[in-house]
This record gives sequence, C-alpha cells and structure tokens, in this order.
Amino acid sequence: MEDVDDLFAILGDAETMRYYPAPYPRERTLEWITDNLERYRRDGFGLWAIEDRETGEYLGSCGPAARVVDGVEEVELGWHIKRSRWGRGIAPEAAAACRYHAFGPLGLDRLISLIRPVNVPSRRVAEKIGMTVEKEVLYGSVAWPHLVYAIER
Ligand SMILES: CC(C)(COP(=O)(O)OP(=O)(O)OC[C@H]1O[C@@H](n2cnc3c(N)ncnc32)[C@H](O)[C@@H]1OP(=O)(O)O)[C@@H](O)C(=O)NCCC(=O)NCCS
Repeated sequence: MEDVDDLFAILGDAETMRYYPAPYPRERTLEWITDNLERYRRDGFGLWAIEDRETGEYLGSCGPAARVVDGVEEVELGWHIKRSRWGRGIAPEAAAACRYHAFGPLGLDRLISLIRPVNVPSRRVAEKIGMTVEKEVLYGSVAWPHLVYAIER
C-alpha cells in the first residue's frame, strides 16, 4: 500500500495510459493494489513491484495474473513502467524474470499477454521475451480488439 503514490504516478498518467480507455483515478489505483494482494493470497502470484536494484526506487509493475479470456482460463503477464525510465529495457528484463519464475517455481505451462495492436511499445516487450501472436480477441471494459501474444513452457 505504501507504493500507491508511485503507482498512481504511472496509472494516473494520460500519456502512459494512452492505449487504455482512461487513466486511473487514485481510488482505482488503490483497488488495483488490493486486487493484486488478493491474487497473491488466492493464486500465489499477481503483478509485483519493479524496483531499481541499487536505489530501491519504484520503477513500475510486472507479473502474472489469472484471467478468463474468450471463455478460457489463462495467466496474463502484464507490465507498466514509469515514463521517465522508458526505452531502457526495464520491462523486458522484468518480464523475462517473471517468465522464468512462472515456468520454474510457479509450475505454469503457458503465459499470454493481451495487447492492443496500436500499442507497439508493449508488443515489442512481448516479442523480446519470445512471445508470438496467436489470435485476436475483444477484451476489457470497452471490448476493444486485443492481440493474444503467447508463449509455452
Ligand atoms: C510498454 C512499456 C512497459 C515498455 O517498457 P520499456 O521498459 O520502455 O521497454 P523497452 O525499453 O524494451 O522499450 C520497448 C519499446 O518501447 C518504445 N519506446 C522506447 N522508448 C520510448 C519512449 N521514450 N517513448 C515512447 N516509446 C518508447 C520502443 O518501441 C521500444 O521498442 P524497441 O526497443 O524495439 O525500440 C512502457 O512503454 C509502458 O509502461 N507503457 C505504458 C503502459 C502499457 O501500455 N503497458 C502495457 C499494456 S498491454
């Protein structure tokens, strides 16, 4: 919960959230944290904080989250990075670490990422960790088309 201001600086930022229906208000950012704490308890995983190894600075979030996509139970790997740190490979580094953890200790067989076709920066992250496009689905509160990027263990 002490990360809420740092997380809100990301999820509440209009440019960062340009491929989402809208930036998150602060209350929704709090709900996001509560939802992930519940995921840790229920599933043993959820989105985690990314911290700078040297300074401990909060850089964003990355991690697997159980979701129903097109009627199928899937585990989605998601990522958000603070804008001042974009373009330094932080998301692919975090996502690759999560992929190892998911296919190793967590024993998962498959990960997906749901990404809007226009979100090229996010598609590049999926591609850098070896994911490929499997299909397109309508997803989210606005039911926009999303690419399903996937990788098997
Ligand atoms: C997607 C995101 C997590 C990428 O994180 P990152 O740590 O910057 O990842 P990378 O450094 O590997 O850069 C990935 C791509 O971002 C783009 N990019 C890099 N710097 C950028 C900048 N300053 N501004 C805009 N895009 C930039 C490039 O397309 C890059 O691909 P390339 O390496 O092939 O040139 C980050 O852009 C972000 O937080 N976006 C907003 C949240 C979001 O859309 N999350 C995903 C939802 S599906």
